Amino acid sequence: MSSNQESWGSRLGLILAMAGNAVGLGNFLRFPVQAIQNGGGAFIIPYLVCFLLMGIPLLWVEWATGRFGGKKGNHSTPFILHELDPKRALWKYVGVFGIFTNIAVAAYYCYLESWTLNYVWMFIQSGFNGMGQDGVASYFDGYISMDQNHTAIYFWLLCLFLNTYILSKGLSGGVEKAAKVGMPLLLLFGLFLAYKGITLKAGEFGALLDGTIGLNYLWTPNFDSIWSTKVWLAAAGQIFFTLSVGMGSIQCYAAYVRSKQDIALNAMSAGWMNEFVEVVLGSSILIPIAIGYLGVDQVVELTKSGGLGLGFKTLPYLFTQWGPLMGAVAGICWFGLLFFAGITSSLAMGTPVMAFLRDEFGWGRGASAWAFGLIVMVLGAPTVFFYNEGVFDEYDYWAGTVSLVLFALLEVILFAWVFGMDKGWKEINEGADMKIPIVYRFIIQYVTPLILLAVFIGSLPDIISKIQNPGNGYVQGARLLLLALYAGIAYAVYLAYRRRKART
Ligand code: PHE
Repeated sequence: MSSNQESWGSRLGLILAMAGNAVGLGNFLRFPVQAIQNGGGAFIIPYLVCFLLMGIPLLWVEWATGRFGGKKGNHSTPFILHELDPKRALWKYVGVFGIFTNIAVAAYYCYLESWTLNYVWMFIQSGFNGMGQDGVASYFDGYISMDQNHTAIYFWLLCLFLNTYILSKGLSGGVEKAAKVGMPLLLLFGLFLAYKGITLKAGEFGALLDGTIGLNYLWTPNFDSIWSTKVWLAAAGQIFFTLSVGMGSIQCYAAYVRSKQDIALNAMSAGWMNEFVEVVLGSSILIPIAIGYLGVDQVVELTKSGGLGLGFKTLPYLFTQWGPLMGAVAGICWFGLLFFAGITSSLAMGTPVMAFLRDEFGWGRGASAWAFGLIVMVLGAPTVFFYNEGVFDEYDYWAGTVSLVLFALLEVILFAWVFGMDKGWKEINEGADMKIPIVYRFIIQYVTPLILLAVFIGSLPDIISKIQNPGNGYVQGARLLLLALYAGIAYAVYLAYRRRKART
């Protein structure tokens, strides 16, 4: 049916690519900040519960859905979901989310990714030395508001180009290679920084507290806010974002898995690798170092005004306290790690878009990669130019938070109730290299959909108040753009469907 006949080069490559998809900026920047904003030890319990009852089931569902669709040559969610219930046309338009989210998240994500490149460059040149805390902070503020020059734009374009270029090399020749280089380096840098974070000593290099104080803050169970809806929603939201579930990118990667190849164990390998990176490395760097220098209260205060400041304003300054050489090494490791985490994720956002263009319209690898780069550039431009007006956050809210829950809820209902759990369970277990506990059959059928429903209902007040409060003109424009994007993709899906019908 199509020329889109790629597959993964090796099992290790597949697992690393999937882990690279999941391990992203979310693990190192979003997780620590969410944990602090939601009371440290009070956050971890809901977080782990959500991982076990919602994250893991969704991983299996999405891997199984993807491989199932791939057998018939479908590699993007509109037609993968269609394959699960060929009688109803509606699912194709639910599947639109799996392309929409990837583009809209890539639009702001690639911008954030490009900051990390700039910061690596700054550390290589020892650019932060002697700047002082205020100096580093105002460097960041100037960078995002493009006060002095257009550096931010150049780095953003460079980052888009790198993504497009790697994507144009294909799955095994581009994405898989990037993961094989990026993931080991990320782990190496991460282990080094985690060691530095945990062994931070009060009194040395100007630190006030031991690094373990921050770790304890995070890991001492605290039952105070465990019944707060806000904490549960934040924990669920973090599980979604970090595992990349509810996005459409896992289904797409899994659609290129060979039909009898294991998915059960592969899904767990990639998923648990993500959790290792998140809860072990992600909690041993930013928080212990920031708390070690500033104390718990000040760090909590700093995250109130959003979390990105901690990674880009505070940490670079603290690194410079370790002396010129160690400071530069730590800075390069931190932003290098963020860059590898980011790019292996943004590549995953490009793949569904390319797969759709290739499957349905017969586009080549290069053309579809450039189309993705161009769309992300157009849609990302408002986040670059109007960052301070809230466009970035608006994208993150609708695409990076709300869409995921909605899509996951609908897809799990489709899988467990329409496709049916008998067939679904068989799909998950086909070729499995591990024995999945049978209780997960029950969890996928009942518990996960109910949790997702609860999360969705719990988020409704916030969604409604956002809709009622239109925000400034930029925010309104951002919403219109996102709506137009959804409509545009839905229209393309409609055209593709007509083409398919004409062919048969
Ligand atoms: N999981 C990635 C992170 O933690 C984000 C991501 C979103 C990746 C969408 C792929 C698709 O940063």
